[in-house]
Amino acid sequence: MQTLEIPGGGAMPALGLGTWHMGESAGRRASEVAAVRAAIDMGYRLIDTAEMYGEGGAEEVVGQAVAEALRAGDVKREELFIVSKVYPHNASRRGTPAACSRSLSRLGLDHIDLYLLHWRGEHPLAETCDAMRALVDTGRIRHWGVSNFDVDDMEELEATDGGCAANQIYFSVGERGAEFSLLPWQRERGMPLMAYSPIDQGALAADVALGKLAQQLGVTTAQLALAWVISRPGVVAIPKAVRENHLRENIAAADLVLSAETLAEIDRLHPPPRRKRPLAMI
Ligand SMILES: NC(=O)c1ccc[n+]([C@@H]2O[C@H](COP(=O)([O-])OP(=O)(O)OC[C@H]3O[C@@H](n4cnc5c(N)ncnc54)[C@H](OP(=O)(O)O)[C@@H]3O)[C@@H](O)[C@H]2O)c1
Repeated sequence: MQTLEIPGGGAMPALGLGTWHMGESAGRRASEVAAVRAAIDMGYRLIDTAEMYGEGGAEEVVGQAVAEALRAGDVKREELFIVSKVYPHNASRRGTPAACSRSLSRLGLDHIDLYLLHWRGEHPLAETCDAMRALVDTGRIRHWGVSNFDVDDMEELEATDGGCAANQIYFSVGERGAEFSLLPWQRERGMPLMAYSPIDQGALAADVALGKLAQQLGVTTAQLALAWVISRPGVVAIPKAVRENHLRENIAAADLVLSAETLAEIDRLHPPPRRKRPLAMI
């Protein structure tokens, strides 16, 4: 698996596992833990979660799967890259460390590898940044970053604190808006863009035109969509999957190399942006 360097040192895998909608129902808990466990066995090393997902339930699912994998000796903690996110309403000077402690306890871990502000809220950025830095200093997180920030927000953030390690936004073959200015802005700074909903919450798997192209290449439509996302320099994809065939397909997509002809055909089907559009959010 390719990795991307992070500002401030270290690296993150080019493809990871999303967990939104996990941990929402007790009846699905065991199958979700099994899915995250299976993902680790298949070689997934980056897992993306948030205190918002299932109001802590997704972090518990991840925590249980990671604990089982560590106990079985299938993976070492330092091989995993765990991402979680603080709710904007918790992202104050005092609220951030408190939320982080709750996340760590649900995850059963002593540190989070990347801790993101989920989206911009009412607390001043300077307060959130100070709180994030303090969490790094005390070893409870390794890196901090943001999510759903457009260029104007990123510039304000940079003027406040230059320590942001990543920005996680909606980016896919079907939602290419970030290519106009945000992605170039992040690339200039060597700051990974984490693409959420990289298969448009499953919808791209049913894209007929993309499907025809995928068939010619002998891959699935979702795989083509994912391979395209991570073919963009500086971009990491975090598809969510619970079904085992999806998990397998998605990690295999990280090894696909798309030809110039395939990339040109994708541009024809889903053209790149010609002007600035507001940042899309799901
Ligand atoms: N920062 C933010 O504001 C934000 C917002 C949205 C998402 N996220 C993160 O990004 C992750 C991914 O985004 P997402 O969950 O919105 O959407 P997604 O990853 O684009 O799509 C997930 C959906 O696609 C299905 N799927 C997965 N692999 C497939 C395949 N190979 N073929 C066909 N269908 C497939 C999944 O089904 P099964 O689960 O049934 O396998 C699930 O229904 C989230 O889980 C979350 O961790 C962050």
